[in-house]
Amino acid sequence: MARFFLPCVLVLLSAQTTLSSGVFELKINSFSSSRGVCGFQTRDCQIFFRVCLKHSQDVINPEPPCTYGTALTDIFGADPKSISSSAPIRVLFHFKWPGTFSLIIEAWNAESAGVGSTDNQNNLISRLATRRRLTVGEEWSQDVDFSNKSELRYSYHVLCNEHYHGEECSAYCRPRNDTFGHYTCDETGSRVCLEGWTGEYCAHRECSHT
Ligand SMILES: *[C@@H]1O[C@H](CO)[C@@H](O)[C@H](O)[C@H]1NC(C)=O
Ligand SMILES: *[C@@H]1O[C@H](CO)[C@@H](O)[C@H](O)[C@H]1NC(C)=O
Repeated sequence: MARFFLPCVLVLLSAQTTLSSGVFELKINSFSSSRGVCGFQTRDCQIFFRVCLKHSQDVINPEPPCTYGTALTDIFGADPKSISSSAPIRVLFHFKWPGTFSLIIEAWNAESAGVGSTDNQNNLISRLATRRRLTVGEEWSQDVDFSNKSELRYSYHVLCNEHYHGEECSAYCRPRNDTFGHYTCDETGSRVCLEGWTGEYCAHRECSHT
């Protein structure tokens, strides 16, 4: 008996402890620099941003590796309208959302039209490194940074992927309605039995009281 059960239990356990996933999204709302975003290169000036997420550090080392993930924006014109309408940067993760993290945001000049490379440090316009605490939720946190003779306004949030729930995006629950269960999921990832069903997996018919 135990021999048959063990693999199932292990699969269930690992499904609950190792699977987790979500996305960190960061939006650049505005960016300006008193030195001029593009220095002397004014014609066809294009910029892009890099976001780097790391484990929380007392003294943040802004260099890679970005242990929690990294992503680039598209390349767009350095004018306010293009910047404010840029799409959010998305960093996907497949671990328990840690809640605290180091956030590094860099503004870069595009090498030439449409070519974004982070190899040449001369193209780095500005960089901020900060520690943040962030809980899972739709609501955007707003922030502004004035370092480096520039002003960067940005907002960010973290969301669990479909079927992942809880503060760490690690509670997996997928609604079903078949012989293995009849339930939906609440926002913590707990099963909520459909009417008429009971048991841990909502697989047993409730006795009707007439
Ligand atoms: C300012 O930006 C430079 C890169 O242009 C970076 O090396 C430096 O760390 C930044 N300083 C601060 C205070 O963020
Ligand atoms: C669950 O499945 C049963 C039988 O297929 C169906 O009658 C019922 O409407 C379903 N309930 C929900 C909430 O989908």
